[in-house]
Amino acid sequence: CGKPSKSGLARVGFSTGFGVLAATLGSAVGLGNIWKFPYLTGANGGAGFLLVYVLATLLVGLPVMMAEISLGRVGKANPISTLQALAPKGQPWWLIGAAGMLGAFLILSFYSEVVAWVFAYVVKAMRGSILSSDPKVTEAAFGALISDPMQSLLWQWGVLVFIGGILLMGVTKGIEAITKRLMPILLLLLVLLCAVSLSLDKALDGLVFLFQPDFSKITASVVLTAMGLAFFKLSIGMGTMMTYGSYFRDDQNIPLTTVRVMAADLCISMLAGIAIFPAVFTFGFEPTAGPALVFITIPAVFSQIPMGQGLMVVFFVLASIAATGAMLSLMEVPVVILHERVGLSRPKATLLTIALLVVLGSASALSNSTLAEFKLFGLTPFDVADFVSSNIILPIGGIFIALFVGWAWGLDKFSQAMSNQGQLHNQQLIRAVFFLLRYVSPALILIVMLKGLKLF
Ligand code: PHE
Repeated sequence: CGKPSKSGLARVGFSTGFGVLAATLGSAVGLGNIWKFPYLTGANGGAGFLLVYVLATLLVGLPVMMAEISLGRVGKANPISTLQALAPKGQPWWLIGAAGMLGAFLILSFYSEVVAWVFAYVVKAMRGSILSSDPKVTEAAFGALISDPMQSLLWQWGVLVFIGGILLMGVTKGIEAITKRLMPILLLLLVLLCAVSLSLDKALDGLVFLFQPDFSKITASVVLTAMGLAFFKLSIGMGTMMTYGSYFRDDQNIPLTTVRVMAADLCISMLAGIAIFPAVFTFGFEPTAGPALVFITIPAVFSQIPMGQGLMVVFFVLASIAATGAMLSLMEVPVVILHERVGLSRPKATLLTIALLVVLGSASALSNSTLAEFKLFGLTPFDVADFVSSNIILPIGGIFIALFVGWAWGLDKFSQAMSNQGQLHNQQLIRAVFFLLRYVSPALILIVMLKGLKLF
C-alpha cells in the first residue's frame, strides 16, 4: 500500500487496523513503563506522583497525542514537511519538527543505554548470578555493570546495531511483525510478577505507597516530572506520533486508537508498579534508588518463584523487545527526516543516525564510570539527557503542537482530520479536545514548566 507523499517519495503505511494499534502501542509501551515509571514514582513519593501523572496524561497527553496523529495523517510526511505544508504561508511551525529530531537524538542517547542494561540482564539472568532477594547482591550486580565502561559501551553499540538492522528491513515488516506478537506474553509475565509480589510479607506497604497519596509530597518539581513522564510515555512532543500518524490509514479511528493506547499503557505501568513496590518494602530496597530500581528489585521478585531464573530470562527478553518497539519509533523520526528532507536513502539515513548515536550515546554510557565526575547542574550526562528531554523538550514541543492546532490550524481542519474518511465522530468530543488544545494544555504545560524549573 505505497502512497505517494507530498515530497513525492513513496511511503509505506501500516497494513491493517490492528497493525496500527499494535505499532502505536509498541511505541508507547517500553522502558518507560517498566523502568522509568517505577523509578520516578519511587523517587517522587509514590501515590501523589501517580495521581498527578494520570491527570497530566488525561488533560495534556491525550489531546496532544490526538493532535499529533491527526496532523501526521493529513500531512503524510515527516514532521518538518507536514508542518510546513499545513502552516499558513511564512510561519515557521516546521521548527517543531526540527526540535523534535534533536529531542529524539537526546532521548535515544540515554534510552539506548537503558536498553543496553536490559540486554545485558538477559545474559546475567542466564548465568543466574543476580537471582537474590538480598539488596546488597542485586545492587552489586547492577553496579558492576554500569561502572564498567567497556561493558556499558559494547552493550550499547550492540543495541544500536541490532535496532539499525531491524530498521533497514522497513516500516511495515520491522515494526509491525515484532510488536504484534510480544505484548500479550509480556503482560502475562507482569501479571504473574504482581501475584508473587502481592503475596510478600509487606505487600500492603507497597500498595499504600503506590496508591495512597500523601499530598504534602506533591511539589512543583514533582508535578513537572509527572507531566514529563506523561509526554515520554505517550511518545509525544517530539514527532514520533506525528510520524506514526503519517502511516495511519484513512479509516483508522484516531480518538479510539489514542484512548486505547493510553489506557493499555497506563495499565502496564501500573502492573510494573504493583510488581515492584511490595518487593521494595519487603526486602528493604530504597524506593528512591533512581534508575537502578527495577534492575535491583526485579531479581528479588523472581527469586521467590520456582523456575524463577528461567522466567527472569524470559522477562528481560520481553522487556528488550518492548524496548525495541519504542526505540524503533524514536529512530523513525530522524531517519524519515533525513530520508525525505535531506534526500538520503533510507539505509543511509539509518546508518547515519546510528553513527551519530554511537558518539552521542557514549556520554550516557560512561556516566557511571569514566564520566562520573563530569557533572552539569549536579547531574551526570545520562541524567541531563533524561531530565532535559522529558521535562523541557517534550513539554515545549507539546505546547507548540497544541498552539498550532488550536490557533493556526483551527477547529474545522482539526475535526476533519480527526474524522475517518469524512465520517465525523462525536462533535462534542472533538470540540472538547480542541478547547483543551487551544487554551488549557498550552497554559497548563507552561505554568507547570515555569514552576517546576523554578523560573517563576
Ligand atoms: N514511550 C516510550 C517508552 O515509554 C519512549 C518513547 C519516548 C518512545 C518518545 C518514542 C518517543 O518507553
